[in-house]
Amino acid sequence: MQRAKLTLRPARPDEAEKLLAFYKGNPDRFLLPRPFDEFRTAIDRGQFFVLVDGEEIVAASGVFDYAENLPFVELAETFVSQSIRGFGLQSVFFNVRIASVILYQGPSVRITTAVDSRNGHSLKTTDRQGFEPWTTPIAAVHSSCPKCPNKTPERTCCCDFYLLPVNKARDAVSSLLDETMSGSITLKNKGGGTIEVRCECAILAGELRKALRGFVDGETW
Ligand SMILES: CC(C)(COP(=O)(O)OP(=O)(O)OC[C@H]1O[C@@H](n2cnc3c(N)ncnc32)[C@H](O)[C@@H]1OP(=O)(O)O)[C@@H](O)C(=O)NCCC(=O)NCCS
Repeated sequence: MQRAKLTLRPARPDEAEKLLAFYKGNPDRFLLPRPFDEFRTAIDRGQFFVLVDGEEIVAASGVFDYAENLPFVELAETFVSQSIRGFGLQSVFFNVRIASVILYQGPSVRITTAVDSRNGHSLKTTDRQGFEPWTTPIAAVHSSCPKCPNKTPERTCCCDFYLLPVNKARDAVSSLLDETMSGSITLKNKGGGTIEVRCECAILAGELRKALRGFVDGETW
């Protein structure tokens, strides 16, 4: 089987429209609508990661705020194209986004995510990552609920919320640093397929990589 070669990198500011088109072209009931400004904020701060095959976006995932100046961020909007599902790309996106939060927002900001309980694939990955139920989420998590097409009369939100303990953030960053030592990650699926993911992320090089290593070793700031 041919080995696909893909590149993981932050979306560039001039790719905002292209990224939006990628989501519009791949509607999914588990991806909640979000104002374009929120996508742009994530892109502008280097926290919207894309996986590209040449110039084509084949997967994407971002880090969002619930509201300004809150000590919480939300990892959200992960979409992996059908043909490359089952290779563990959602975990790669988790790890790289967690590393970006440690560097850009700092280790004391709480990392959260939201998953619809009917989304078995995503729940499995979220649990494996070490997320724990966030039973009393802040009110701001529901700010986009009134507009949500999946809203039900029984629940404020169709998703359940999860928080990542800081030791799990260290594990995630540690795995990412180990996996990207050579600059690429090799992923396999159960059918024997292989994907090679070249990492072109500034956070995984030079001083930023050193800072991530410091976090893994217990430093905080
Ligand atoms: C959820 C999603 C991001 C998972 O991406 P992924 O990179 O395929 O995730 P993984 O490879 O880690 O797979 C997670 C589990 O689902 C299975 N899986 C997911 N999609 C699969 C597919 N199309 N074929 C085979 N297995 C699949 C994997 O085998 C794995 O289970 P396992 O641990 O028992 O092997 C992807 O299915 C997707 O984009 N879904 C639509 C949007 C969505 O739900 N986003 C998440 C919102 S919270």
